[in-house]
Amino acid sequence: MRKIVIAIDGYSSCGKSTTAKAVAAELGYAYIDSGAMYRGVTLYLLEHGISFDDLPRVEQALHDMHITFKRNRKTGRNELCLDGVIREDEIRQMRISNLVSEVSVIPAVRHAMVRQQQRMGRKRGVVMDGRDIGTTVFPDAEVKIFMTADVLTRALRRQEELAEKEEHVPVEDIVENLRKRDHLDSTRAESPLRRAADAVLLDTTHMMIDEQVDFVLERVSAMLFSLAANGWQGSEQK
Ligand code: DC
Repeated sequence: MRKIVIAIDGYSSCGKSTTAKAVAAELGYAYIDSGAMYRGVTLYLLEHGISFDDLPRVEQALHDMHITFKRNRKTGRNELCLDGVIREDEIRQMRISNLVSEVSVIPAVRHAMVRQQQRMGRKRGVVMDGRDIGTTVFPDAEVKIFMTADVLTRALRRQEELAEKEEHVPVEDIVENLRKRDHLDSTRAESPLRRAADAVLLDTTHMMIDEQVDFVLERVSAMLFSLAANGWQGSEQK
């Protein structure tokens, strides 16, 4: 069977990546965490002492840096690499979460990341999560999900994730960070976070991960069934 693109967008810490990862594993598709790429750019700029408003240096940095994913054989996870070195732990730290939305508003950064994401999904067969996947990166994605959840629920989930990595952050700080990021992400001029007209809304406030995964998989099956019924064989290359 030919393959489709599944776009999962939504607010920070709604469980997008956990859901997307499980859906990809179930279907044998590649999982691409587009947020990790913006986090990687943020880490690079910080480490090279490049001010976010120094556009010529930001553009040069985008040209110089190599953002890739490497599969960790032990965990099966795709880990973000910056210039060939795995930086997965650093990009998840709060210092990066606090700055990433400022970097991801920069049009040059968005253009470079969107181009790379489109290349990664060229052959279809990907589940990509982010903020603008269904609207800008793959407006032709066959399945589009828009995830949301109550902010306190999201903050508590995020706090647990950070605690697992020995980073203990008060829940109020996380709520503040999520609110700030939601605001910056949805009000920026360039490809803001918004629900695509054809995206299905999924509120995960009272849902378990398995239910979220099943919800998406049901949509995928329905789409594949309807495409096959209409004689569609899928597109290998777009
Ligand atoms: O998914 P995440 O929380 O790791 O994403 C980190 C930040 O990256 C998020 O606050 C906004 C930005 N982002 C974006 O602008 N567009 C995307 N497609 C994915 C993430």
